[in-house]
Amino acid sequence: MAIVELKNVVKNYGGRKAQGPNAVDDFNLTTRDGEFVVLVGPSGCGKTTTMRMIAGLEDLSAGSIRIGGRDVSDVAPRDRDIAMVFQSYALYPHMTVFGNMAFALRLKKLPQAEIEKRVREAARMLDIEHLLERKPRALSGGQRQRVALGRAIVRQPQVFLMDEPLSNLDAKLRVETRAQIIKLHRSLGVTTFYVTHDQVEAMTMGQRIVVMLDGNVQQIATPHELYAQPVNTFVAGFIGTPSMNFLPATVGDDARSLQGEGYRFRAGDARAAGLAGKAGATVLVGVRPEHLKWCGSGDAQAANHLAGKVDVVEPLGSTTMVQVDVGGQRITAQLDSAIAVEMGQPIALTCAADVLHLFDAQTGQALGLPAQA
Ligand SMILES: Nc1ncnc2c1ncn2[C@@H]1O[C@H](COP(=O)(O)OP(=O)(O)O)[C@@H](O)[C@H]1O
Ligand SMILES: [Mg+2]
Repeated sequence: MAIVELKNVVKNYGGRKAQGPNAVDDFNLTTRDGEFVVLVGPSGCGKTTTMRMIAGLEDLSAGSIRIGGRDVSDVAPRDRDIAMVFQSYALYPHMTVFGNMAFALRLKKLPQAEIEKRVREAARMLDIEHLLERKPRALSGGQRQRVALGRAIVRQPQVFLMDEPLSNLDAKLRVETRAQIIKLHRSLGVTTFYVTHDQVEAMTMGQRIVVMLDGNVQQIATPHELYAQPVNTFVAGFIGTPSMNFLPATVGDDARSLQGEGYRFRAGDARAAGLAGKAGATVLVGVRPEHLKWCGSGDAQAANHLAGKVDVVEPLGSTTMVQVDVGGQRITAQLDSAIAVEMGQPIALTCAADVLHLFDAQTGQALGLPAQA
């Protein structure tokens, strides 16, 4: 267990003669001891590069990395006391599961009794005790992935690095193994970096989540903070399914009311400060599909009100996803399935004041967020 600190970490694959944009630009993070940190973002945003720098497989172009208080920026991978589980987890085909799991410990010349103990304990935690004498080819994909996890666990490292370890598994197995990794983390308490491009996986697993885009950290926050207080339109649209709706609106003279074609809003107390001095300007109002409510034929008094025409209806069982054309813009609402909505019909929607998000229309930065700690 250890605290991991990344300070002003930069990676440019051009080395000292920096070429093109940085693959990772000024990454700063200090983990808590034993924390489970998820890096998430679209393909190419710099997740793997960051992991490889923590592992010591890539040099830093600038900045420093400390593990357990020790600057490891120039320490070889094998001396960093970390264990990695990557997407391609190649097991040794000619060795048994036991042999695969014991391999690194034999290299370290640990006593046989200690090796036995660690392998059996890890196998028990992963539910693969009965497979120890099998060869990898006689295992399912999910079992192989658990052996790969076991191989990392037995090393009892200070830090785990897991880069999309579940992406080769089918959906059901992914969910199961995800739960198993969380349980493992709770019982081992080892500081873990976990990479995924899947925001649902990030939200369910991370104690803190680092959202990245184009090499830049967008926001580092708990799952709840990311959902409730995204710092910009990228994070707001990336976290949550279906995605947040964004509607341009003109700020009224009272710096509270917001008006657009087919909708009006009134900023709640929490966000209103962000509209100070913006009368007459255009901002983006963000509202999540699950926060929109059906309001019959419309409530003329409602502070938040949208009127449009139903475009698409997708019944999902407990809820119904409805695409609505509001003044030529397509928005999504997730409504109670008990409400009957039909294609082509007019529809009126409303929402509570405190679920509105506000963004600068030019920069996409959130307006009216409490200052970050
Ligand atoms: N070895 C490399 N040489 C040059 N560019 C690289 C190398 N590895 C990754 N990149 C580039 O760095 C950026 C980040 O890549 P990567 O860290 O693999 O992203 P992710 O894991 O988030 O998909 C991408 O633009 C990618 O093309
Ligand atoms: Mg990657």
